[in-house]
Amino acid sequence: MGGRNKKRKDRGNERRFMNVKCSKRLMGVATKASIGTVVSITIIMLAYMFNRYKQDYNSNILQETLTGLLREENSAKVSPDTKIAIGFGSCQDIVVQSNQIIFDRPPSYPEHFFSITNKEEFLKVFAYFYRHGAAAERFISNSTFFSELVYLAEKAPSARYIIGGNAPVMAKRFVKEGCQVLLGAQMSKSLENQFPNSIRISGPIVGEDDIHLLLEYPAGQRWGKFSPPRANRFIVHNDHQNPELSSLDAFITQMENYDPNLLVVGGLQMMDNFPMSES
Ligand SMILES: *[C@@H]1O[C@H](CO)[C@@H](O)[C@H](O)[C@H]1NC(C)=O
Repeated sequence: MGGRNKKRKDRGNERRFMNVKCSKRLMGVATKASIGTVVSITIIMLAYMFNRYKQDYNSNILQETLTGLLREENSAKVSPDTKIAIGFGSCQDIVVQSNQIIFDRPPSYPEHFFSITNKEEFLKVFAYFYRHGAAAERFISNSTFFSELVYLAEKAPSARYIIGGNAPVMAKRFVKEGCQVLLGAQMSKSLENQFPNSIRISGPIVGEDDIHLLLEYPAGQRWGKFSPPRANRFIVHNDHQNPELSSLDAFITQMENYDPNLLVVGGLQMMDNFPMSES
């Protein structure tokens, strides 16, 4: 009897020992699990707090910049009858979402070109800037290819038309300040109609405007393996009038009698990468 009891007791001890061993292991796992959980929660919290801090910091900078600009703007008084002559150039801007005119897969290797001759080069140079979300403007030397892009842009649901060119944009702003403005720019009748009447335009009036295509994209939009870290736009054009300053002669002739208080010159960057003829 004693022997049987002892056996039962031993088995009991053994079981208790096993239980203790088991629960120790369980507790070990549980502790490890909870340390893991605490660590993950802490990381998530820290990431969240860091993000909040970054957002606050960025919006503070934005707010300060905006306030500073408004203060500068208010500190300058423009006398209403100031006469400003401003050149050069104008264009019709067509703003469009890039994924509504680019349906091709991206190239495997983005590459940079100063001026673009065909679709292949276009896709490569677009990808080159797109992957970094970097702004750029490039000349397309192939008019046939450029017309194909314009045709697609005009059909795109997101297409918007605005008056383009640095000089016209500044001219519109000067008129809002009450200034008198002579704008040195060639343009079509239909673009001229989009301007406020108070801006005097040097001309000449031409059959067709230079067109600038602004291909916009949002941050994070996937195009194959590329995804831009920020929203931006890539501009292409096939200008022939702006790089040659085709409004220069008319502008100078009209300036002689105009006698402006201020002469502003802009738009010369359109000569960049333009294949000027030697003659
Ligand atoms: C110009 O573009 C057209 C239309 O995309 C194309 O067929 C032609 O090959 C291009 N020309 C050159 C020189 O690449």
